[in-house]
Amino acid sequence: MSPRPGSVWCIVVAAGSGSRFGAAKQFEPLGGERVVDWSTGAAAAVCDGVVVVVPDTGVNTPTSADVRVVGGSTRSESVRRGLEQVPESVDIVLVHDAARPLASPDLFRRVITSVAAGADAAVPVVPVTDTIRDVSGGVVDRGRLRAVQTPQGFRASVLRRAHAARGDATDDAGLVEAAGGLVELVDGERTNLKLTTRDDLVIAESLLSLVRTEGSAS
Ligand code: CTP
Ligand code: MG
Repeated sequence: MSPRPGSVWCIVVAAGSGSRFGAAKQFEPLGGERVVDWSTGAAAAVCDGVVVVVPDTGVNTPTSADVRVVGGSTRSESVRRGLEQVPESVDIVLVHDAARPLASPDLFRRVITSVAAGADAAVPVVPVTDTIRDVSGGVVDRGRLRAVQTPQGFRASVLRRAHAARGDATDDAGLVEAAGGLVELVDGERTNLKLTTRDDLVIAESLLSLVRTEGSAS
């Protein structure tokens, strides 16, 4: 696949083992497809190319992925393996967790728009609704806190530079910030939950039927 100038590619990381879930959650069935197929499908609806990063075991590549590569032992290492597959000419790179199957194409578009408008990095966030307590004592002012989601978007050169130090972090924006990049926040989606434990899959299943009902009503 030869990318056109100025194109946008997405790396979908799906190489985790799902230790808290008890299985590789990204390959569990959800609404008639696998979790990973939802995640790559939303990326492919909006991006020019999709790289899926998979475990070292035989799994079927999602049909909406253009390139498949085997991941590493940490999330950051899996992102780097994916990044090596993104053509040099690509301007904007998104990184998305396969474990977030309900991110909408509109959310992908918001993230891309922010980077296209000049941000080094764009990160979807949602307000924290629970009261948060510091374990060493005291309630934390949640008004200053946001929960971070994926897809996260980056100027490709910024993401490559941030990963060049081969650091490790739970998200890529953290690495970009550590490398001196500026991170812009965009509105995330409450429904864009990350599957972590088994009960999250039950919630995702009911959110999906809600979205489908609303979609068919409009
Ligand atoms: N991931 C990856 N490579 C790794 C670790 C994680 O590609 N070595 C991916 C996961 O497949 C997931 C995303 O990164 O889509 C977010 O990670 P997380 O939710 O922590 O998934 P797991 O690492 O699989 O789960 P756990 O931490 O419970 O083992
Ligand atoms: Mg993990």
